[in-house]
Amino acid sequence: MAGSPAAAVVAAALLLLLSLSACASSSAAISSSSSYPPLAPGLSLDFYKKSCPKAESIVRDFLQSAVSQNVGLAAALIRLHFHDCFVQGCDASILLDKTPAQQSEQEAVPNQTLRPAAFKAINDIRDRLDRACGARVVSCADILTLAARDSVALAGGPAYKVPLGRRDGLAPASQDAVFAALPPPSSNVTTLLSFLSKINLDAADLVALSGGHTVGIAHCGSFDDRLFPTQDPTLNQWFAGRLRLTCPVQGADNTTVNDIRTPNTFDNKYYVDLLNRQGLFTSDQDLFTDGRTKPLVTKFAVDQDAFFEQFIYSYVKMGQINVLTGASQGQIRANCSARNAGRSDDELPWSVVENVVDAAESLVL
Ligand code: HEM
Repeated sequence: MAGSPAAAVVAAALLLLLSLSACASSSAAISSSSSYPPLAPGLSLDFYKKSCPKAESIVRDFLQSAVSQNVGLAAALIRLHFHDCFVQGCDASILLDKTPAQQSEQEAVPNQTLRPAAFKAINDIRDRLDRACGARVVSCADILTLAARDSVALAGGPAYKVPLGRRDGLAPASQDAVFAALPPPSSNVTTLLSFLSKINLDAADLVALSGGHTVGIAHCGSFDDRLFPTQDPTLNQWFAGRLRLTCPVQGADNTTVNDIRTPNTFDNKYYVDLLNRQGLFTSDQDLFTDGRTKPLVTKFAVDQDAFFEQFIYSYVKMGQINVLTGASQGQIRANCSARNAGRSDDELPWSVVENVVDAAESLVL
């Protein structure tokens, strides 16, 4: 067979296999399709089975109607969940309004474009859950997780189970902590990976989670550094022209869609955009430039099921970052926008509880 055409074909196939496996080992590896991230201690898939059995259907019914009236709400909730989890963990601290004593996370620049409608939706769901199951049963952090999960499915993405049992944080993160945790859209892959590594997320998580940009909008200020003063050479020329119509000067207050192909549908077209150099942010487009992430971008562009599988894995993983669980951590807020007024049993340090019990016992004759 040596020297024959058949031998040449076998040799070429072997070479291709070898180069593919070398490529796979040096770049982002997809998580096993059957895998689901390990559950964080204290979380479970049926956490409210007894205390609020209708919790998931209440969230779902509310959003089904709300998203049908405002499709942008789905994108807004998906982003809100991300901005909560990356900063100080998924503790609903992003929902806390400012007080005379404390700045809120919402005031930090990266959070100023979060949509008020998303915050309102969480409080509306909170009211419905309180009426069905009593006050302070379902945490705001879990409501946000469920709302983001349902938003993905309602926009056309995959439906999946999420672990529940998070408790709500007692205080917002500082402005510095917000900046340290949320990468700017001008980041390249090296910068993005260094942000993500701090919270145990890897290159596959980065590529899949960035797929959240398959829905929603962005303001000119988030990407016009790619147009002015000089145009980013990686931008597709036609696409750049279109962006210039939306943002004629630097600092314009207009918005455009994140995914030009199917802006309101949760699908894999975001990756097709990247292949065509039509990614909106540097942080998007560099995923197709950098050799560590390019193979996965290419895979997701041609295989939506592969994207959905990795997205579920990575988004559930993201939803478990530094969660507060168990009676001793955090609290269940009565109002998602404010820490519970006064002190309540679920946040009292044990030493204080013991002192109160001791004092009460001394009163018994
Ligand atoms: C990897 C780093 C990321 C960067 C640098 C980034 C940056 C941004 C920026 C700058 C905007 C537009 C803000 C504006 O101008 O209004 C945006 C929007 C959005 N992002 Fe990201 N993002 C990242 C990751 C994620 C992740 C992990 C998700 C969720 C899985 C996500 C989901 C969204 C959504 C849905 C929108 C649209 C929100 C709306 O329409 O209200 N992003 N992102």
